[in-house]
Amino acid sequence: MRLKDKVTLITGSGSGIGKSSAIRFAEEGAIVIINDLNEEHGKATAVEIESAGGRAHFIRADVTKADQVQAMVAEIIERFGRIDVLFNNAGVSGVGRLHEIEEEAWDRVININIKGVFLPSKYVLPHMMEAKSGSIINMSSCIAEIGLAQRGSYATTKGAVLSLTKSMQVDYAPYNIRVNALLPGTILTPFVEDYLKKSYGDNQEAAYASLKTRQLSGDLGRPEDVAQAALFLASDESKFMMGSPLYIDGGVVFGKNA
Ligand SMILES: NC(=O)c1ccc[n+]([C@@H]2O[C@H](COP(=O)([O-])OP(=O)(O)OC[C@H]3O[C@@H](n4cnc5c(N)ncnc54)[C@H](O)[C@@H]3O)[C@@H](O)[C@H]2O)c1
Repeated sequence: MRLKDKVTLITGSGSGIGKSSAIRFAEEGAIVIINDLNEEHGKATAVEIESAGGRAHFIRADVTKADQVQAMVAEIIERFGRIDVLFNNAGVSGVGRLHEIEEEAWDRVININIKGVFLPSKYVLPHMMEAKSGSIINMSSCIAEIGLAQRGSYATTKGAVLSLTKSMQVDYAPYNIRVNALLPGTILTPFVEDYLKKSYGDNQEAAYASLKTRQLSGDLGRPEDVAQAALFLASDESKFMMGSPLYIDGGVVFGKNA
């Protein structure tokens, strides 16, 4: 029970890493607020947690819309009284070289991946400041540290989230709020599987083999691997970690590219 009775909000937790983290947090005794744009997926995650005996509550909100985020935070405070952990996980990928991508595509990835961290933080922080306690986990990526083909827009956002994490930590340390970042490598979530299918068709073996050339581990990353790291940052076990990047990348950053 590493998160016993902690009220935790995970954005984008209807799928992939967020969903896996929600399930893991609930197993450790947390009350998990599932947020997602996708109502069907978000509700399904909440039902899965509740059927396993955990506590979950779904709220549909777009993390790029201030009014929706504000209403979501107000609902959590009204129902549960506080927010102990905020996991800013929602995000989308952006593919293509700069001269090829459309302005709308650039704006979309910047908006969701950066503003989508700003707004939930903006509205949750006053409650954590009042409680003089809290843990915020921001989803960056190991792409913030390396160059990867055709990922200019996405890498921009994940580098920004890493920088934001450090500045946030300085501002909110006086309130006993910790802010850390997760930097996963390639994790086999529905999104990545879909991307691989588009790039490699039915030749899944070629797709997986190509991913493995980027890292030291012979295994591919799983959502559960990142969920374990998120659990550590959410819990008091990481109480001396402040403004830190935590890599879960099978050796991409400090292995192959060192
Ligand atoms: N999968 C990877 O390899 C990988 C690696 C590094 C970092 N990440 C990051 O991890 C996070 C989760 O990625 P994933 O692979 O689990 O993706 P995913 O697509 O499986 O899940 C993301 C969820 O976010 C939701 N979402 C998107 N826009 C939203 C919005 N505006 N408001 C609310 N919810 C929204 C989606 O509906 C989806 O359910 C992202 O920030 C991603 O950039 C993923």
